[in-house]
Amino acid sequence: MRGKIVVTGGTGRLGQVVVERLAERGAEVQSISRRNTTVSVDLRKGTNIDQAVAGARAIVHCATTNGRGDVEATRNLIEAAKRAGGPHLVYISIVGVEGVPMPYYRAKLAAEREIAESGLPWTTLRATQFHDLVAQILGLAARLPVMPLPTGFRFQPIDTGDVADRLAALAAGPPRGRVADMGGPQILDVRQLAGLYLMRAGKRRPLVSVPVPGAVARGYREGRHLAPDHAVGRRTFEEFLAGWAPGPVG
Ligand SMILES: NC(=O)c1ccc[n+]([C@@H]2O[C@H](COP(=O)([O-])OP(=O)(O)OC[C@H]3O[C@@H](n4cnc5c(N)ncnc54)[C@H](OP(=O)(O)O)[C@@H]3O)[C@@H](O)[C@H]2O)c1
Repeated sequence: MRGKIVVTGGTGRLGQVVVERLAERGAEVQSISRRNTTVSVDLRKGTNIDQAVAGARAIVHCATTNGRGDVEATRNLIEAAKRAGGPHLVYISIVGVEGVPMPYYRAKLAAEREIAESGLPWTTLRATQFHDLVAQILGLAARLPVMPLPTGFRFQPIDTGDVADRLAALAAGPPRGRVADMGGPQILDVRQLAGLYLMRAGKRRPLVSVPVPGAVARGYREGRHLAPDHAVGRRTFEEFLAGWAPGPVG
């Protein structure tokens, strides 16, 4: 592969694996984030982006400020990419961003639109929740003496390795626009997920279903964040947990 590929958020859950997968394919990879050891790039503030993307033939945009500036960060990246000659911009978004009306999803949807309207060659992939995130949230709930679980919520967790494989392949290819969503291999109720988590963590907790009001919870209950027709991820949540060690929060 000729020309470097930049991975924004290359220190994050997904970004780290994307960097690995691209390197395995023989690409010259540059990871950028605020914690970068060589040059700190702040996409939201717009610092050092030009320097980081110069000479890139593709950018895989995995950085997220968790909604506190994703649109500004994406705009700053787009402008820098244009100045750098217009590399292929590959974006990772979330299944259901228009179906679950929470601020983070709105920001992701707005960032998707910025990319689609940027004039740059682009590809956007939406994925369901990552195993790591689901395990982390369950770990927080399991800190309590009883484990509160939102009534009627299901998830289709996917492995970051599966998503990273797809992003690496997309970055190596031509711009595709919005590609098919990517979901994990199984859709599981939160009680099933909690049971698997507790077994792995060696804990026992009573599970308490908590009805959650509001439009966001309704979106989740309706499964707007699921991709049942695209259950293409290979690694199950149980397989993920087998190789997983709880971190400080989970
Ligand atoms: N987590 C999920 O379940 C899930 C599901 C589907 C899609 N996604 C999407 O996948 C992407 C990656 O998610 P993730 O869970 O891997 O994220 P993450 O672990 O929270 O990582 C976020 C990354 O963004 C970087 N970052 C944050 N603010 C920045 C800034 N101002 N300038 C430059 N870099 C910045 C962070 O590095 P520094 O702190 O060093 O700057 C870090 O490398 C996101 O776009 C997310 O929406 C996530």
